[in-house]
Amino acid sequence: MKYKIIIVVGARPNFMKAAPVYEEFKKYPEIKTILIHTGQHYDQNLSRVFFDELKLPEPKFYLGVGSGSHSIQTAKIMIEFETILQKQKPNMIVVVGDVNSTLACALSAAKYRCLNKVYQPLIAHIEAGLRSFDWRMPEEINRRLTDALSDLLFTTEPQANDNLLKEGIEPNRIFYVGNVMIDSLLKFKAQARKSKILKELKLKEKNYALLTIHRPTNVDDKKDLEKLLQVLKKIADSIEIVFPIHPRTRKMLEDYKISIDFLRTVPALGYLDFLRLMSDAKFVLTDSGGIQEETTVLGIPCLTLRKNTERPITFSVGTNTVVGNEPTHIISEVKKILQGKAKKGNIPEFWDGRTAERICKIVYDYLRTQH
Ligand code: UD1
Repeated sequence: MKYKIIIVVGARPNFMKAAPVYEEFKKYPEIKTILIHTGQHYDQNLSRVFFDELKLPEPKFYLGVGSGSHSIQTAKIMIEFETILQKQKPNMIVVVGDVNSTLACALSAAKYRCLNKVYQPLIAHIEAGLRSFDWRMPEEINRRLTDALSDLLFTTEPQANDNLLKEGIEPNRIFYVGNVMIDSLLKFKAQARKSKILKELKLKEKNYALLTIHRPTNVDDKKDLEKLLQVLKKIADSIEIVFPIHPRTRKMLEDYKISIDFLRTVPALGYLDFLRLMSDAKFVLTDSGGIQEETTVLGIPCLTLRKNTERPITFSVGTNTVVGNEPTHIISEVKKILQGKAKKGNIPEFWDGRTAERICKIVYDYLRTQH
């Protein structure tokens, strides 16, 4: 084969973004695609289950870096990834999203090409240009630096193009292609309807709210966490709240000895069960990035428990409302939804299930001009 491409995955939100791209590259006989898993996430329900459900093949390399401080995790991935670059010499690496694995591999490739004049791996970033303008978010650091290092930048919304242009990225490297995560959602939506999760949890459609929280800004500080939980307790008087718990949040609740018996807790869920729960929820409360986008496409009201979002199209076009952590604001938005006055949204342009197709075509054409 003429071209070798490495696709990197590491943490839960990467898998549903990489899967459609991996699948699409199979249609190009001249391209060999290698999947690499950094091991940033390693638990069965944060990693394995997604490989099974999204039909991702076994990664050719598993770096097994595990958890650690941001520096340790990023550095470990860089060291391991450099060895792979040396041996595999891909023409391009493709990174997705904004997790530590995304930046670590992009940085490793960019550094590699400083030292090696002959072998110059290209870098493509999928989900480029999103900005929360909050440098205390680890993801903001990861996004900005990855974008600065990338040759091809694939964006999900027009604002992302503007952000990149303002940062001095040449326009001919930026491509508004839509949202690969939505490719996965549309592909698996029908299959998710067969999930038995509602039956198992004895839930009725539109009779519950779905909650996810795991951001350090919401769960790491005891006072902030307690403040948020008090609001959730009030909401739970009106509607049952189902809460799949991320391991980070579980750990913090245990450390702080906080009880959340007013919430219907379940372990972190697989892709199909979670998609089913989202699709049939009355509304969703979340601090996740991806869930703001998925609820927009599903037409489910989403209240984002953060002060900002890097995905503004979800509130300008979609069903998202950014409510921050102010109790009165959160409660008043919940009331609106319960009174049948939920925000109605539309689906952003190019969130049509064909984003991977557009990306792979651009990558292929680009590789041909380079080699
Ligand atoms: C990471 C991403 C975040 C993403 C989230 C989705 C970064 C900086 N953050 O956050 O953007 O929204 O994934 O889940 O990359 N842990 C386990 N099992 C695992 C993995 C982690 O128990 O398989 C626990 C460990 O205690 C670990 C903690 O969760 O220290 C945090 O994991 P980490 O990958 O550092 O960050 P996330 O909070 O998961």
